[in-house]
Amino acid sequence: MCGIIGLIASKSSPNNIEALVLGLKRMEYRGYDSAGIAFMAGNQIKTVRSKGKIASLEDKLGQSLESTKLGIGHTRWATHGDPSEINAHPHTVGKISIVHNGIIENYQELKQELIELGCEFSSETDSEVVAQLINYYYQQSDLDFVGAVRQALTRLKGAYGLAIIAEDQPDQLIVARQASPLLIGLSDHATYIASDPMAIISYTDRIIYLEDKEYAVLGAGSYQVYDFDHNLRDVTPETIELDPGQIQKSGYDHFLIKEIMEQPEAVINVLRGRIDKQNFSSHLGGLNLPDDYFRKIDRILIVACGTAYYAGLLGKYLLEKMLNIPVDVEMASEFRYRDPATSKNTLGVVYSQSGETADSLASLREMKRRGMLTLGIINTAGSTIAREVDGGIYLHAGPEISVASTKAFSSMSIATLLLGLEIGRYRQLSIERSMEVIQALGSLANDIEGVLSLDQEIKLLASKIAKFGHMMYLGRDSLYPIAIEGSHKLKEVSYIQAEAYPAGEMKHGANALLGDDLLVVFFLSNNFLYDKAKSNLAEVKARTSNILVVTDSEEQDLARGTIDVIRVKRVSDWTQGLIFNVVSQLIAYYVAVDLGRDVDQPRNLAKSVTVE
Ligand code: F6R
Repeated sequence: MCGIIGLIASKSSPNNIEALVLGLKRMEYRGYDSAGIAFMAGNQIKTVRSKGKIASLEDKLGQSLESTKLGIGHTRWATHGDPSEINAHPHTVGKISIVHNGIIENYQELKQELIELGCEFSSETDSEVVAQLINYYYQQSDLDFVGAVRQALTRLKGAYGLAIIAEDQPDQLIVARQASPLLIGLSDHATYIASDPMAIISYTDRIIYLEDKEYAVLGAGSYQVYDFDHNLRDVTPETIELDPGQIQKSGYDHFLIKEIMEQPEAVINVLRGRIDKQNFSSHLGGLNLPDDYFRKIDRILIVACGTAYYAGLLGKYLLEKMLNIPVDVEMASEFRYRDPATSKNTLGVVYSQSGETADSLASLREMKRRGMLTLGIINTAGSTIAREVDGGIYLHAGPEISVASTKAFSSMSIATLLLGLEIGRYRQLSIERSMEVIQALGSLANDIEGVLSLDQEIKLLASKIAKFGHMMYLGRDSLYPIAIEGSHKLKEVSYIQAEAYPAGEMKHGANALLGDDLLVVFFLSNNFLYDKAKSNLAEVKARTSNILVVTDSEEQDLARGTIDVIRVKRVSDWTQGLIFNVVSQLIAYYVAVDLGRDVDQPRNLAKSVTVE
């Protein structure tokens, strides 16, 4: 989703343009359809924008870059108005240039008002309203640059991360935040701003995260942060740990396959120091909840979006077995506007890789408003959700760059099991069950390594699979959420229409879909439901032979009446879902490659969805 970069430096240099472009490139993974920068060139703002990839912006900027001390940049993911150069940011109006992430909800009303005042709009975006409004106020003789921005902020409704420069104020860069992430990076040579720390980690690791309803006035080497009531805030920069090396492809063709392959390491990282073998429990230092609260919880409510939501669904299957308390999972975009029943002892848990997903954040705030205690299962340290939950578990999976989430899913599921161990040992979880979970987790990195060795086998199958126009993923028990996540991953990266069903549910309607153009991916585990699931497989086989079976059973006869069988190791029921899921990830990846898709940045998708 949209990305903001900006800087104000002590010396004018072409390197500053390079830094803006590099910042944009570092945010490419978030998904975008156009990009642009605006910078002080002499005593004028120069704006260069382009539709499509950053490479075409670079073409426009040319080989010999101009020198500047002050600039802002943006990658846009269209919401209001087509992806086009005219709608791309920065929007420069009069002396003002802005970049904006988020959505201005009252833009139509403001636009009408500004048109009546004589302003002429050139784009279809909600964002241009911000530039027009600030420029309008700035033309009023009694307002300076900061005053004009302040005045404009009082008029905006909705979500925004904003960076603003003015042609006649080359020593000031202003940023503001309301429900859209924004941070300030401090270095000896320049002050940076970004919506994503990735954009500036090559230059600094000293960061100030702006909170909602804060703005900051920045100079080269200076910062003043204010709340929207204009009180100066006392902020302390923090040091973040991000290694620019982690955001390279390291020899892989795509980030997606790199991140799939990183899962054994991700397993080790999320588990590091967290298994308490002595007490058959886990050490989770960040939960920040009183011990006696664990005994009082009467329900767990997981709220998330997309793949994180499917990790939550798997969490329901796991946690209900461990804790014997109801676990509900809600899509955040629904939860935030519903009127769901919650009790004061309902524990709210938000799953999020980015920690910035707008719907998940709004749901968290709704849960807190109801007085619920909340935890976050989050990958991105310092993200807004991570800062607002009462406590949580960081995944330590490293940056996930590919838009399609893979390693975060595995790490979220492991964090769920760790949470189950911790809460469970204050309740009824037996030593025997805890030991099963701990042993399963202990061998998981190796088990995943084993599935990853099927890589070439799955690659060879990909062209066979890619011929189908539709796919149906089936599974039972904890393999049902895995089937949903498998279908989600496939449609995201290959654009093949896919859905998922519990295998036992097919006869109630979806059997009608079985036909020549549809491939069934059947997840079959040799667990307590093996015979039931085999009957469901037989029902499918009676209607089609377009079936790919993925199984941990060694039964040879399963291959009859299918296009192929992928065999994985039989592991504990606690972790089998993750084994099958890695197969799904490899299928999605190789099918997408076979079809020539934009694997890391699938069309119409964004990595960190910071608008509703
Ligand atoms: C799936 C995917 C999205 C995200 C969803 C939530 O591959 O990338 O469905 O899972 O947008 O994002 P986070 O986890 O950042 O809250």
